[in-house]
Amino acid sequence: MSKLQNKNENETMEKIVSLCKRRGFVFPGSEIYGGLANSWSFGPYGVELKNNIKQLWWKKFVRERTDMVGIDGPILLHPGLWEASGHTAGFNDAMVDCKECQWRYRADHLIEQATGKDMEGKLVEMSAILKEEKVKCPNCKKSNWTEVKNFNMMFKTQMNGIADDVYLRPETAGAIFIEFKNILDSMRVKLPFGIAQIGKAFRNEIIAGNFIFRVREFEQMEIEYFINPKEKWEKIFEGWLLAQEEFAYALGADKSNLRRYEHPKEKLSHYSKKTVDIEYLFPFGWGELFGLANRTDFDLAQHGKFSQEKLSYFDQEENTRFIPHVLEPTFGLERSVVVALIAAYNEESVGAESRIVMKFPKELAPVKIAVFPLLKNKPELVEKAKEIFNTLKSDFSCEFDDNGNVGKRYRRQDEIGTPYCVTVDFDSLENGDVTVRDRDTMKQERVDIKKLNTYFNSKFN
Ligand code: GAP
Repeated sequence: MSKLQNKNENETMEKIVSLCKRRGFVFPGSEIYGGLANSWSFGPYGVELKNNIKQLWWKKFVRERTDMVGIDGPILLHPGLWEASGHTAGFNDAMVDCKECQWRYRADHLIEQATGKDMEGKLVEMSAILKEEKVKCPNCKKSNWTEVKNFNMMFKTQMNGIADDVYLRPETAGAIFIEFKNILDSMRVKLPFGIAQIGKAFRNEIIAGNFIFRVREFEQMEIEYFINPKEKWEKIFEGWLLAQEEFAYALGADKSNLRRYEHPKEKLSHYSKKTVDIEYLFPFGWGELFGLANRTDFDLAQHGKFSQEKLSYFDQEENTRFIPHVLEPTFGLERSVVVALIAAYNEESVGAESRIVMKFPKELAPVKIAVFPLLKNKPELVEKAKEIFNTLKSDFSCEFDDNGNVGKRYRRQDEIGTPYCVTVDFDSLENGDVTVRDRDTMKQERVDIKKLNTYFNSKFN
């Protein structure tokens, strides 16, 4: 068995996108209507993979900790919240249009790609550079640009009974901050503690792309971790970075494909003391996977001011009231799915043949066990295989498969990353045992049917 592929080759992404469509992980959105730009639909295995990632995250960051609670807030939130957080005025990206072909670009990205200069946030200078350096439109190759303008990325909508515009939330964090008081009043929490949430966020990105890496509708897994401002936050910050890296490893990421990028001081938002991105080496280059910021007391202070509610914390031991500071670890779910797919993707030669095998960590595999009868047209084998499937399915995500021959079924299960395949053959009827085949080693062993549940419990726990 040999590895055929260098994971960082660009073609990896094309192969993964094609596998995702072929095998029911991710489909292009609204395809039968000709598609809707950069929207994607998660298919049967994609939704299992996504749910497994969410469950792993919730287990690690909520259930297994005593300092965390979870919420599930609404997507539509009071418009005042976005005034307070600064999103209405400042959640902008720099946009520029090509006057020749009308293609639209994110100006800072366009300039960085063409000149290597980092001009983020400097609209006037960006307009000048596009002209002076005659930056060419990647589509029509001409250089005739509009002025660079700010574009607010929030999706606007209307709501019955509300006069103001309402927005689809551009991040989940806002829904957490506004429940701070309810959590204090209902949950007997003591600092330091965190509130976690998984949910949809919407951003009208100027340019989306790279599969599901940058989309306009996505899910975030976010935590607001409240601390006493007197506390030594640097140590807690480092602890969260390590926890984020651990989570990336649990997705299958290799250490060598992860790095930290600390935002330079001059580029930090005025409220941030420190921001670090955890970046991953995607086949299209380094990109942000997760982020961590020390947002000080900015959010609670702003929401307190705009809502006129007291969003402070009373420390009984010290007999003082203050506004806690917050550390914000944030995780993108779609990007986590991309990492899990890239890290799992393997092409191997098996003798004269080759196979594609998705070596997901077992916990993340969409299907844990596939059960086959050796032959589809032998009712006694089919009946026994269904009986086994029925005994395993309540404990493990299982699939029954009697299509094609066993070799083809193995290839299909390898491509969706099923860790174990169980085959019922004629010996099974005689001896009460089955063949269990391991995805990674392809080794097969006979296991007593009566002991299958125990056998798989030991493999998955
Ligand atoms: N509350 C902080 C916040 O939203 P962010 O860096 O803008 O921070 C957090 O977003 C995470 O959400 C990113 O690290 C990334 O994983 C994910 N994310 C952001 N924009 C995205 C997009 N357009 N498509 C997919 N994921 C995105």
